[in-house]
Amino acid sequence: MNRSNLARRAFLRKTAVGASALALGSAAKARAAARSDEVVLGFIGCGGRGSTLLQKIVRTEGVRVAAVCDLRTERVAAAQETARRFSPKGYTNFEEMLDKEKLDGVIVATEVGNHAKTAIPVLERNIHCFCEKPLETTVERMDAFVRAARKSKAICQIGFQRHYNDGYVKAIEKIHSGDLGKIAFLQGQWSWVWEIGGGWVADMDLGGGELVEQAGHHMDVMAWVMKYQHPIDCVAMANISREIPADSKPTSEDHAGLLFRFPGNVIFSYTHLFFCPEPFQLERMLVYGQTWGIDLVKSELYLKGNKTERLGEDSGTDWGKGTNEELEAFVENIRSGGKEKPRSNIETARIATLMCFMGRAAFRDVKSNKFEPRLVKWEDLGSTTEP
Ligand SMILES: NC(=O)c1ccc[n+]([C@@H]2O[C@H](COP(=O)([O-])OP(=O)(O)OC[C@H]3O[C@@H](n4cnc5c(N)ncnc54)[C@H](O)[C@@H]3O)[C@@H](O)[C@H]2O)c1
Repeated sequence: MNRSNLARRAFLRKTAVGASALALGSAAKARAAARSDEVVLGFIGCGGRGSTLLQKIVRTEGVRVAAVCDLRTERVAAAQETARRFSPKGYTNFEEMLDKEKLDGVIVATEVGNHAKTAIPVLERNIHCFCEKPLETTVERMDAFVRAARKSKAICQIGFQRHYNDGYVKAIEKIHSGDLGKIAFLQGQWSWVWEIGGGWVADMDLGGGELVEQAGHHMDVMAWVMKYQHPIDCVAMANISREIPADSKPTSEDHAGLLFRFPGNVIFSYTHLFFCPEPFQLERMLVYGQTWGIDLVKSELYLKGNKTERLGEDSGTDWGKGTNEELEAFVENIRSGGKEKPRSNIETARIATLMCFMGRAAFRDVKSNKFEPRLVKWEDLGSTTEP
């Protein structure tokens, strides 16, 4: 169903169909009316995240999963099993799926370095696209993705779920209300017990390293706090603490400390680490003013004199909070004609992704596989999609 059909169906549902179904008192007609604005979805990438999103989507009212695609046939079969009530068709070639199926929207959950390759053909066909975060692992592929999304008539929503998490939304609304005054300093930390060392995340082309794949969430939130003004410059250091063979391919840092400077000399200090003892595990994002502080994860405001105010729901250790809501927002946007700009959209994700690239460029030279600190300015990134 294309966008004008969807809008027409929504209109019909509200008027003739809805009225006649109710007038006739026919349960069958009422069910038919409910199905008339069904949103038909396909999936590209049915690995870890794709399966999580699929499990959530199959429980969403008014959605039908018509097709699933993965390069690995066992993952296609597992996805078909998860969505068995819709009997979705299975594909290993996503362009074939896009051409054969009549899809309203597609959810892309491939590895980061495959996002441009898999999301651009969706957008070029003007099919609504939800693509996982961050945008890509290189500036060139990210720019191509951004250009395709800007040109497309379809929605492009990016999977930074904190935009759909009540705790973050309320806390950042409070900061943006201006009631508290100026932001003085930003602080972020993410520490994980598990040690990385393999898989596609550590592959610099496919995953881009931990700062790109994982920390993108925090870059996104702090850029949001700063109303998506981009940082001016960044200095950083990082290293690998684990043993790796001297001749190994470039691989991800496992700890890093970064300092970004936003307009107004607001400094954002960020640390991440992937080998901490269990009690040290932590996700922390703090915003400081002269006489106040906000804990974004807890969604709490602290004022001078030890006054505390709850702003929204505490996320606790649930970093996935907001995922149900982001999927519902995507489906609802499609259903109502695709007119809403998603809260997490191509422009917001562009800044977050470039911040990751900025930090990475400030602590490493990928070509020589060396961790060397240097100062990186926004212009040094060489993006060709500056608005
Ligand atoms: N928002 C979040 O909190 C969150 C959490 C985890 C992962 N992610 C993101 O989700 C994405 C996927 O991560 P993952 O952990 O599920 O990876 P994964 O390796 O488990 O799954 C990726 C899948 O994509 C498939 N794929 C790759 N190219 C394809 C193609 N051309 N056609 C069809 N299938 C293709 C692979 O075969 C694989 O099964 C990444 O962008 C990651 O950053 C987001």
